Amino acid sequence: MYQNSIFTFQYFESIMPQTIQGFSRLNKEEKIDWLTSNFLSDSQNATSILKQYWNSDAKLQQLHDEFIENTVTNYYLPLGIAPNFVINNKTFAIPMTIEESSVVAAASKAAKFWMSRGGFKAEILGTQKIGQVHFTYTGDAQKLSSFFELTKPILLNDLKTLTASMEKRGGGITSIELINKNDQLANYFQLHVTFETLDAMGANFINSCLEQLAESWQREYNNYPVFSENNAEMVVIMSILSNYVPQCVVRAEVCCAVSELTEADGIDPEVFATKFVQAVRIAEVEPYRAVTHNKGIMNGIDAVVLATGNDFRAVEAGAHAYAARNGSYSSLTHATIENGIFRFWIEIPLALGTVGGLTKLHPLVKLNLEILGNPSAPQLMEIIAVAGLAQNFGALKSLTTTGIQKGHMKMHLMNMLNQLDATDTEKSKAIHFFKSNKVTHSAVDSFIKNLRQN
Ligand code: MEV
Repeated sequence: MYQNSIFTFQYFESIMPQTIQGFSRLNKEEKIDWLTSNFLSDSQNATSILKQYWNSDAKLQQLHDEFIENTVTNYYLPLGIAPNFVINNKTFAIPMTIEESSVVAAASKAAKFWMSRGGFKAEILGTQKIGQVHFTYTGDAQKLSSFFELTKPILLNDLKTLTASMEKRGGGITSIELINKNDQLANYFQLHVTFETLDAMGANFINSCLEQLAESWQREYNNYPVFSENNAEMVVIMSILSNYVPQCVVRAEVCCAVSELTEADGIDPEVFATKFVQAVRIAEVEPYRAVTHNKGIMNGIDAVVLATGNDFRAVEAGAHAYAARNGSYSSLTHATIENGIFRFWIEIPLALGTVGGLTKLHPLVKLNLEILGNPSAPQLMEIIAVAGLAQNFGALKSLTTTGIQKGHMKMHLMNMLNQLDATDTEKSKAIHFFKSNKVTHSAVDSFIKNLRQN
């Protein structure tokens, strides 16, 4: 029965009515009809919610529809601005796209704090990206190695059409190595390729090069008599870029005299600096804490990655792998106090692009890049690393002093008021009241109930 695919689908549709064939061929209205009538209790209301987010500008809507497949509507996230970032003596207002309250406020506060203490310093440690052709080979490794050296010029020559324009701008393929991975997996080898993709994130460029490389590698292998004589088999398994980019790394730092760490909160700067450094050390040695610590960093990083149309999943994957590079998951930031100087820095891999992808397509991405002064990819790496460092500074400052809930609940107050359908007058009364009172769900609820009763 399962051999016949038509029968199989009909069979599944009859026992599972919510499956469908040809969903992608339905138009948007039909997709919504099918979705709301099969999965939502009030299909009329659901339809109007979905359509509420359609843009009235049909061209703009079509642009968004065509970013992905099976689009039914748009999913909004707020875009906030964190001003007053001084990075390498230049001032930036950083656009941040994120749903979590407190993140933009914390970034802005940290930016302002460091603005008067020399600002942030950032530098690029490397911009190289990696791609691999993974293959199996059953013959003599030494023969393969000699064959690789012999074939390399042919492989590079085959890649010329793909790499020519990148090379003209100073990028391209910087190395190809044959790596024997037999000790980890029987017969497993790879061509390990290093790329310089300049201002492009480079995923398409890298993957196209790798697929061409795999094709040429297989062709040359098949034509090389030594291997066929020995019955040695080579099979390309896959060709793909790596999102682990430990050579595409940026470092950002703040530093000042410990005595300059004074703030209105009235906390002794020595005590604050010592607790702060200890908090970072804890994240360096304790993975449970490190994950949360780095999550806070990624609050800042992802928000700017998203606002600038970059791939936050790639950045996340690469950052966490880097955090575990020494065999145990650890902090992405570090801090010291030496000779009375407090120093706090981040080192993070960031594969970003400021050309290609969404950068010219999405009007808000274009605008956000313009707000940042149309940075090169390395400059954007610096800005984004700073956003992560600022976020971590804000989180650790709160955690080691007041705790995060005080500020967090204040920021969350607006979400709670919106949940209670508070009017503008009710909101301003609540904001005034909770300036000097503890924000909790029940306190906000009772406050609004009391207002309404009176
Ligand atoms: C919350 O989104 C992020 C924090 O938990 C980060 C941290 O604990 O460092 C506050």
